[in-house]
Amino acid sequence: MFMNRFLYCMLTSIILWSACQSNNSKDSKNQVLLKNEVDSTKDWHTQSNFPKVNLKHLSLDISVDFDKKIIKGNATWFLDTTAQNAKRLFLDTRDLQIDSVVFNDGTKADFRLENPVEFLGSALRIDLKDHAKSVTIFYQTQKDATALQWLNPTQTFGKNAPFLYTQSESIYARSWIPCPDGPGIRFTYDATVKVPTGLMVLMSAENPQQKSQDGIYHFKMDQAIPAYLMALAVGDISFKSIDDRTGVYAEPAIIDKAYHEFEDVGKMVHTAESLYGPYRWGRYDILVLPSGFPLGGMENPRLTFCTPTILAGDKSLVNLIAHELAHSWSGNLVTNATWNDFWLNEGFTVYFERRIMEATYGKDYVDMLWELGYQDLEAAVADLGKDSKDTWLRLYLKDRDPDIGLTDIAYEKGSAFLHLVELTVGREIFDKFLNNYFSNHAFQTINTAQFLDYLNKDLLDGHEDWKNQIKVNEWVYGPGIPDNCPQPDRVRFIKVEEQIKNFQNGMAAKLLKTTDWSTYEWMHFLRQIPYPITIEKMKDLDETFHLTQTGNDEIADIWFLQALRSNYTEAFPQIKYFLINTGREKFLEPLYKELMKTPEGKKMAKEIYKIAKENYHPLAQKDVESILFPKNT
Ligand code: BES
Ligand code: ZN
Repeated sequence: MFMNRFLYCMLTSIILWSACQSNNSKDSKNQVLLKNEVDSTKDWHTQSNFPKVNLKHLSLDISVDFDKKIIKGNATWFLDTTAQNAKRLFLDTRDLQIDSVVFNDGTKADFRLENPVEFLGSALRIDLKDHAKSVTIFYQTQKDATALQWLNPTQTFGKNAPFLYTQSESIYARSWIPCPDGPGIRFTYDATVKVPTGLMVLMSAENPQQKSQDGIYHFKMDQAIPAYLMALAVGDISFKSIDDRTGVYAEPAIIDKAYHEFEDVGKMVHTAESLYGPYRWGRYDILVLPSGFPLGGMENPRLTFCTPTILAGDKSLVNLIAHELAHSWSGNLVTNATWNDFWLNEGFTVYFERRIMEATYGKDYVDMLWELGYQDLEAAVADLGKDSKDTWLRLYLKDRDPDIGLTDIAYEKGSAFLHLVELTVGREIFDKFLNNYFSNHAFQTINTAQFLDYLNKDLLDGHEDWKNQIKVNEWVYGPGIPDNCPQPDRVRFIKVEEQIKNFQNGMAAKLLKTTDWSTYEWMHFLRQIPYPITIEKMKDLDETFHLTQTGNDEIADIWFLQALRSNYTEAFPQIKYFLINTGREKFLEPLYKELMKTPEGKKMAKEIYKIAKENYHPLAQKDVESILFPKNT
């Protein structure tokens, strides 16, 4: 054990030493990092005392009260007593009310909630007694629990029943379950959930396909998962089967539309398996949420949560499903050990997503995704600063909000790095490596240093030429976009750019060659037209392509941005409608930021937010408020 730790420290020091060499400037900055790095297995975002106390299994027994907007019940943690010598158990909580704690023999345990720590919440300290097999915590959530969005019937598609759903990643499971809330800590769970009759309940577990008569539901999750993958949804939800292991859940009002959009998902699971090995989670279902959902998708095991903004009607946004499905390998099966290693979840997943997309729709198509991703990466680097340590793949988030790491560095720099490794060593060899990686680390966690060690041992050692071409340390422990970043082929975007030129040179919109354009071509077109665009030209585009009224939210978002920049006021009512009725942070952020650039825009933004606020998830509210009221954050 000691030997391993010693070797590990040596290894990280060597990696960092070589990182310092390749960056060969700012020595003092790197010295500071060296100190942090030695402690790199530590998860700064949990106050639980795992692995001192080993928690094997969670038994949840809760009821959902829509009137009071609280979840109330108890959580029983089964302790692994074999290696137990700790006198205390610490769990994460955030804004939870703890009523009592009881041991398995029925006696009461002493407990206290420690003072809250910024970002982390209050640790719950439970004094253990010898031979305790379990502790049951009686608790309730508070009205503003970060993970929970409570929707009134008017905020749903069906308008006749309330809705509740959770978003636990990154550290918000603790706001609805007292738990060891770090990605490196896994447990199995079962749950009993009681809701008003007539509502369906779903979790990241084995799920029902029909509503129960009495509003009581039982769940089982036998595969160990980290707390950030705990999920719950309650509402008027129906189910439609796609094939024998995939299906879709949605409110009855949109179930057919959702089914149509996801018809090909069964095939997608097969494609993913043919790339990186068996799907290990039994069923793969998708739940389409009401429009307040703050994300595109969330990879809750067995049940991806996704935004209704993906329902474009033509399957053109299903890469989002490919992404969440890919997390069944990268993230859910092999999990980033801490939020500093977030790129191991998201970078791998974007790479895998694009491989699924390439296998399904061809290389030309996926090259567009790579290029749009590269544009996003450039924007992220510009935003964070090209020398910023936040542009390293390996992050340093101690004492910081872990969601700071939620940028395109993890997604796009991470996936570009893996793309580079693939291009360097060849696809066949790389796929074999990834297959082994997933099966060798299944149901385990991994940090960046461990991954690099594995990469060297399993792939790069003995190939100095590959190492020199890839320059791993420049990517992982260095800023910005390295020079050897792969450049995608631009077959289809070159054609788009010809049309941009034609349009700029005065060609009427109706004469542009846009037939057969996919969402991505439109995104490129609208992103790349230099702005501001004259009102006449905006009008011409709008009248020809009906962009203000598009049902495709990816296109709408960019078009509305151009409309704001060009002061194309005809689109403003629709922009207002969009901001009030979409909760997806990725769309809200750029529009609110753009509005904040002018005094009139600021006024409009604040007016809109007043109406829209209650439609947004607490996390999206936090995000938008940091844009509208910068001093308050
Ligand atoms: N796991 C993420 C969402 C997430 C990350 C939530 C970190 C909270 C903290 C999910 O898989 C994701 O990446 N969603 C993207 C999808 C896109 C990349 C296709 C989104 O929501 O936009
Ligand atoms: Zn993801």
